Formats: sequence, C-alpha cells, structure tokens
Amino acid sequence: MKMKAIVYEKYGPPDVLVLKEVEKPTPNDNAVLVKVCAASVNVEDLDYLRGNSWAVRMLGPLKPKYSTLGFDVAGCVEAVGRNVKAFQPGDNVMGDLFNYGFGAFAEYVCAPEEALVLKPASITFAQASTVPSRAILALQGLCGKRQLQPGQKVLINGAGGGVGPFAVQIAKYFRAEVTAVDSTTKLGMLRSIGADHVIDYTQEDFTKNGRRYDLILDVSARHSIFDYKRSLCPKGLYVMVGGSRATIFQVLFLGPLISMLGDKKMGLIAWKPNKKEDLEVITELIESGKIVPVIDRCYPLNAVAKALRYFEEGAPKGKTVITVDPDNKI
Ligand SMILES: NC(=O)c1ccc[n+]([C@@H]2O[C@H](COP(=O)([O-])OP(=O)(O)OC[C@H]3O[C@@H](n4cnc5c(N)ncnc54)[C@H](OP(=O)(O)O)[C@@H]3O)[C@@H](O)[C@H]2O)c1
Repeated sequence: MKMKAIVYEKYGPPDVLVLKEVEKPTPNDNAVLVKVCAASVNVEDLDYLRGNSWAVRMLGPLKPKYSTLGFDVAGCVEAVGRNVKAFQPGDNVMGDLFNYGFGAFAEYVCAPEEALVLKPASITFAQASTVPSRAILALQGLCGKRQLQPGQKVLINGAGGGVGPFAVQIAKYFRAEVTAVDSTTKLGMLRSIGADHVIDYTQEDFTKNGRRYDLILDVSARHSIFDYKRSLCPKGLYVMVGGSRATIFQVLFLGPLISMLGDKKMGLIAWKPNKKEDLEVITELIESGKIVPVIDRCYPLNAVAKALRYFEEGAPKGKTVITVDPDNKI
C-alpha cells in the first residue's frame, strides 16, 4: 500500500522537500499506526531540514537520518501492534515523535504507544497537533523547579511563538502577573490570551527598564546572563528554554555558579518529552478551557515547504499547522 509523504534526501532549504508516493508504514508489535490529520511545524524541523546543528549532523553526517520531518502530530489510530494496550483503532490521539523518528508530514505514521495520548475531545486535530512538545515545554519550564504562586511576576520572553502562548495561559492559570515579550505584530494576540503586560522587544529592552520578575521563562534568549540576572527579584528564577548558542553556553556554565553563590537561580531546562503526568495536566487545562492552542495558519500537506518558509520568516502568531486530512474537523 502506498501513501503520500513529504520527503527529502539532502540537507538544504525548504525547496529540497518533495511530495512523494512512498510505502505506507506497518506498525510493529509495540507500535500504533496513526492516520495523520494534522502536524505542526517546529524549529527542530528546520534544524533537521538544514542540517545546521552538530546534533543533527551526528545522526546524519552527510545525508538526513530521517526522510520525512514533522513530530508534533494528531490523528486517528488505524491499527495497533499485538502488544499495544492503551489504544485501539478509531481512537483520536496526539503525540510527540521527536525521539521516535519524526515522520508526521505524511498521511500515516507509526508511533510507539508511549509517544501518544488521547486527544482532548474539546479541541480540533489542528489544535491538538500544536500541543505535545510545546505545551509540555511551557509547563516544565514554568513548574519544574517550584510551584508558581498567585501574584508572582512572571516574564515570558519570546512569548508569541509555539511555547509562549501555552506559557502565558499556564502562568495566568496559576494567577501570576504575566508580562509577555515579543515583536510588534504578536502583542495583540498575547493580550487576547491573558497577558497583563506586553513588551515589544524591537522597541524596548526589558533587561534595561528597571523592572524585576520572580520568574523569567526565556524561549528566545539573546542577552547576556548578567542582564537576565539583573531583571530578577531577590530569590528570582531564570529558566532558559531556547535561544542563541552564546547564551546557552553562558547559562550552562555560569548558571550553576550564579545559583550557588547567590539567592537567584538560573538554568536551562532539559525537556522531558511525552511525560504522562504533564500531558494529563495539560489535557485537563485544555478540557476545562483554561488553555486554548493558538494557531496562526494552516497549510495542506503539499505546502509543507511553504509553511516552513513562513515559519522561518518569523511571522507566525502562535503555531503553523499542516492539515494532512483537512476534511477531518473533529
Ligand atoms: N531546553 C530544551 O530542552 C528544549 C527542547 C526543545 C526545544 N527547545 C527550544 O525551544 C525553543 C522553541 O520555542 P518556540 O517553539 O516557542 O519557538 P518559536 O515558535 O520560534 O517562537 C520564538 C518566538 O521568539 C520571538 N523572538 C525572536 N527573537 C526574539 C528576541 N530577541 N526577543 C524576544 N522574542 C524574540 C519570535 O518572534 P519574531 O520572530 O517575530 O521576532 C517568536 O515569536 C527553541 O529555541 C528550541 O531550540 C528547547
């Protein structure tokens, strides 16, 4: 049996991606065959496409390790391997396949059962495809070290992309006072999902305005670690999710030292994908309407290259989604 998939055989820009007929995968005894309804676009897809990080080149020095990208997926279970207990054909699921070979920019993908959870019934497949990796990163970044307290001042830097809108809404759920930082066009969306204050980073440098925060969650770290330290209240916590290589190195090497010598704590989170307890929390928050995924645009499967270009240009307010089965509106 054949299926359509977006494949690439060499590293490069989005133009190297082609829509092809390939073999439909067959699940092994521990895997689930998912009919993909939607898959969202992430920066890691671009890293794997362009092969511009050492981690990607270690996996595939000369040519890509995986032929089809896409790892945040939502769809319908079509078949299950004989050892699969948690799912049956017809279940609607979502999952993060980052550690399981990608492959979601296709009509079907196989996934081990531990990579999947049931899709919350209250959201569409397109919305569900934005959740698995980004909502987990937001939750683990905000709630990893200590419980957020009502009234605490939380700043989310780079709040307008994939992780940020989940982080803003989770922090509001904990009744924090939230400041969201991003570029001009994203500020309206950030206000609409509950941010108390917004800062346009193209106009104002939050590390120089004299305000202090109990928690800074940094999705787009570009400043020096000392700038961030200055923006923390006494006993404040700085959590880096992503950003420039220079800041990653500073946070990795100086963060533990600063944390040991003073009362401010600074570090980088290590993402724990598919953590079931975290996904349960996120699912509950979604079902109760406390968090709503934010989608900027949807593209069909044959326009993955266009979607990646759009994402790369930095324009999306929230997530960019590939709707593989646009008829399925559940
Ligand atoms: N720590 C871990 O274990 C781990 C695991 C997985 C992923 N990650 C990291 O998590 C991050 C992914 O986050 P995401 O999905 O939210 O990314 P995203 O969708 O690309 O969003 C990033 C946001 O930051 C904004 N931004 C760009 N430059 C900025 C600046 N100087 N100041 C403030 N905001 C700025 C962007 O807006 P404009 O483009 O409009 O400026 C965009 O809205 C990546 O860095 C990834 O490497 C970390």
